[in-house]
Amino acid sequence: AAGLFQTGLLAGKKVVITAGPTREAIDPVRYISNHSSGKMGYALAEAAAEAGAHTLLISGPTQLPCPARVTRIDVVSAVDMFAASLREAADCDLFIASAAVADYRPREVAEQKIKKGEGESITLTLVKNPDIVAAVARLPQRPFTVGFAAESEHLVEYARRKLVRKKLDLVIANDITQPGIGFNSDNNAVTLVDAAGEQVIDQRSKTQLARELVTILAEKLASSSH
Ligand code: CTP
Ligand code: CA
Repeated sequence: AAGLFQTGLLAGKKVVITAGPTREAIDPVRYISNHSSGKMGYALAEAAAEAGAHTLLISGPTQLPCPARVTRIDVVSAVDMFAASLREAADCDLFIASAAVADYRPREVAEQKIKKGEGESITLTLVKNPDIVAAVARLPQRPFTVGFAAESEHLVEYARRKLVRKKLDLVIANDITQPGIGFNSDNNAVTLVDAAGEQVIDQRSKTQLARELVTILAEKLASSSH
């Protein structure tokens, strides 16, 4: 069945996908991160490659093997992911931001391991990371640009705000309160939000969902000006 999804729908296209978490260093041994597994982004990369795209995966630290026929660029921090993404997105057709990018990073990275002090608390000052997908959408020759939105309430409303604020072509909205889907799970269900309206894709494996999404995105890309 693995060979069945060789549609050539994205033949000749360059697809760039961000995936996984980012790690924001505090000192040489500590960091801030999140529980993203990278599974959805890796499944999308696999499906895009199966559909014939020249596929690049810009990945934060994950436990996953790189899918066949996919080129992976390993990054650690949001700033690293930003640089790699802007470089690779400049000449791509489709950009999908599935990474769980840390919104903030420590303002300073201590050169030495921070020692436990006498006080009962310490303060860490965080500064905002650049918004990768929004920067890609602002490129002069922008690709068809797709973001994710993981929400715990007001799913469609918040996803639509991200669509507008970041000037995206489409947002894939994830309801993180639904049991059995999302972050570390093998299944996912999503609502697609774009200028045309909303489309629900019911719960299924991330592999099946990725193929469905790639099919829909290839059609939208073909009928867009990108
Ligand atoms: N994203 C990004 N760069 C960032 C933050 C987010 O490219 N610095 C992308 C994510 O990969 C995702 C989309 O933006 O495709 C939405 O991420 P999300 O965390 O849901 O949105 P935020 O704008 O960070 O808003 P909030 O976390 O407050 O909901
Ligand atoms: Ca965020």
